[in-house]
Amino acid sequence: MEVKVSSPDYPERDRELVMDDFLKRIECYKVTYEPLDPDEHDMNLSFIKVINVGRRFLVNKVQDSIQSKIVYYLMNIHVHTHSIYLCRHGESLHNLEGRLGGDSGLSERGKKFAVELKAFVKEHNLSDLKVWTSQLKCTIQTAEELGVPYEQWKILNEIDAGVCEEMTYAMIEEKYPEELAMRDQDKYHYRYPSGESYQDLVQRLEPVIMELDRQGNILVICHQAVMRCLLAYFLDKGADDLPYMKCPLHTVLKLTPVAYGCKVEMFDLKVEAVNTHRDKPLIKVRTPPPLSRRNSFDPLSTEYQIKRPRLYSMGNFSPLPVLPPPAFSSTRISKGIESLQRENSLDCFSTPDTGEKST
Ligand code: F6P
Repeated sequence: MEVKVSSPDYPERDRELVMDDFLKRIECYKVTYEPLDPDEHDMNLSFIKVINVGRRFLVNKVQDSIQSKIVYYLMNIHVHTHSIYLCRHGESLHNLEGRLGGDSGLSERGKKFAVELKAFVKEHNLSDLKVWTSQLKCTIQTAEELGVPYEQWKILNEIDAGVCEEMTYAMIEEKYPEELAMRDQDKYHYRYPSGESYQDLVQRLEPVIMELDRQGNILVICHQAVMRCLLAYFLDKGADDLPYMKCPLHTVLKLTPVAYGCKVEMFDLKVEAVNTHRDKPLIKVRTPPPLSRRNSFDPLSTEYQIKRPRLYSMGNFSPLPVLPPPAFSSTRISKGIESLQRENSLDCFSTPDTGEKST
């Protein structure tokens, strides 16, 4: 009923009328449509039939990993009402100094936030609440104060800033100015040397997101970049907005998935904290930094992807050459690789100039 009443097809929102119209609609559909026939007529089609909002599934001819991911996704989403509470850990000692990453404990204000969070949980009567943290000290110390059982997830750990871990933005600007510039150019895809990109983080968080959809009321105590990724999933934000979403310290967000969207409520627990948000810099006129060779990339979005069958047999031979690694390549092929790297920012080959490792 909720799904139908909230549907954009029914702006009038009159429950009785909506139900009546929807049942008539089904009758009309029956005239025009016919059910899939997995045993005969449609046996060669790939499809998933979801029966009674997930009570039963019929999966036919799943052929590749994307299709199986879709099945996994559809089997995990639910329509039960629940709320997801998201917050960051209390202010940490590293936050006070503006340092990224690391594994420092809570500051005095951070400890105060943990106390306020406990009061918040009590005030909102969240007795059946599940609590998840990362494996980093600041989230664990925040959860400890709640005095309830909690689960630690390694995959909820903050984005790995690689060689920039425990540095401030000013230190990075001084030591690795090109890195900061490249990150500003494309923050979502930029991958820290020996670290991660936001895109990597989104992929890392996929199991958490799937589990979140299955749970009842849950509180996730996490970190700035992680919270952005989780929030972006529920609010349907894209790669441009995601890395700049505002997730201040000492603030709890309550997300309630509803039909066709997600209701968001924000609770500022009124404990002062430093601001760790760095705005998207205005585009400056300066020499553009060299294109990143370390960016993560989405294999489905690049126009340079080389498609070839996985299995080679006499009857299934790839007409495309497989590129040899640079050390064994002819000049023409290594030129090709270099230009691919430049144009496409792939992280697939080792680069002799920087000595970076290939993946
Ligand atoms: O500054 C706190 C922090 O959680 C760091 O540990 C992390 O590297 C950073 O925020 C992520 O935010 P941004 O992607 O904006 O640098």
